[in-house]
Amino acid sequence: MARLSTEQQQARARFIAQLEDGRLQKPVAEGSSLPNSAYTSEDFYKLEQQTVFRNNWVFVGFAHQLESVGDMIPIEVAGQPLVLVKGDDGSIRGFHNVCRHRGAKLVVEKKNSRKFICPNHAWSYNLEGKLIARPHFHGGEKHDINTETCHRADMQEVSCETWFDWVFVNLSGDAGNFIDYIEPVVKRLEGYDFSDLHFCDALEFDIKANWKLAVENFIEPYHVFACHPWLNGFVGMDERCPPDFENHLLYCGYEFKQADPARGGQLPWFPNLPEEKHNRGDWFVLFPNFCFEIFPDQVDVFIATPTGSDSCHETIALYFVGEGANSEKYLQARQHVIQNWSDLNHEDIGVIERMQAGRYSDGFDGGVLSPYWDPVQQYFARLIVNAIKQDLN
Ligand code: FES
Ligand SMILES: [Fe+2]
Repeated sequence: MARLSTEQQQARARFIAQLEDGRLQKPVAEGSSLPNSAYTSEDFYKLEQQTVFRNNWVFVGFAHQLESVGDMIPIEVAGQPLVLVKGDDGSIRGFHNVCRHRGAKLVVEKKNSRKFICPNHAWSYNLEGKLIARPHFHGGEKHDINTETCHRADMQEVSCETWFDWVFVNLSGDAGNFIDYIEPVVKRLEGYDFSDLHFCDALEFDIKANWKLAVENFIEPYHVFACHPWLNGFVGMDERCPPDFENHLLYCGYEFKQADPARGGQLPWFPNLPEEKHNRGDWFVLFPNFCFEIFPDQVDVFIATPTGSDSCHETIALYFVGEGANSEKYLQARQHVIQNWSDLNHEDIGVIERMQAGRYSDGFDGGVLSPYWDPVQQYFARLIVNAIKQDLN
């Protein structure tokens, strides 16, 4: 459950009052989406961090960044310092990144070590977070090495799970079983063999907009005809359907008539791909902000990490199949795909930042929605509201 400050509780009360017009319950044609404050208020941002990001499974890093045993990466979730570490058993674990003695942050940059050693009084912990030794703990030269008796001083572990190359953390421990969380998307990926899928490259973008606008834009195909000339040529509006949703999953997809060098046209495909997937593109959002697309030759992960009420950082990580991921032979083909994603994302950023600017207008407060395309926007808004109200129920 969330532990909210008085300011956050007040922000929540103000936010809930703004929803009293029933905007999220009304039919889409008469309803609306989240009020402006959800995209502009610092108090709301902190509230959202303490609820949405604390109580759900959230993506925190890529397993390929923790290649060797002892690799450690500091991360942050809901304002709290955490550390990911690769253990002797090959598992990636997450811990509160803080020494149990007097609270010094343990890891401040990516490193490799056989143990955590605090720089303050040199208490040490193994890769499973267990206290190893406390030098001079009982007086000069009287070291504590009998640490089995003091589990209070072990590092505090957080729920952490790895799915393919993607590491998730649930800070509160209340988000439920991770397998259940990913199940709706895993069942839709049947037929895609990830065994020879490899990370290739990542694109990074700083966006002057709230993270929710990036996610809402990612899932909706309605803007394609106006924002993405190439994409509209690849699959036209009459061949597109609106996004759908199930539990914590939003999803959409299409069939393309002909592959393009940017999608399925030049790079190797997933092995033994079933016929019905040959001309398919699908994309998904695992609430709150783990987004990805899949085509016969690639997986593209989009993460919009909140950095403030009006800013986020986006990472697009690109994965290709077999030799497509790294051989010289496919260098140009890969570069073409990467450039295509960069171009498309710049087109999106243009409208995402305009939508942020519009959230400061008295002429807008949640919008007039398309009953055909926008039910997903209301659904996403309800997921946000439910997460924020969670400990009120
Ligand atoms: S604060 Fe870490 S050993 Fe004292
Ligand atoms: Fe777009």
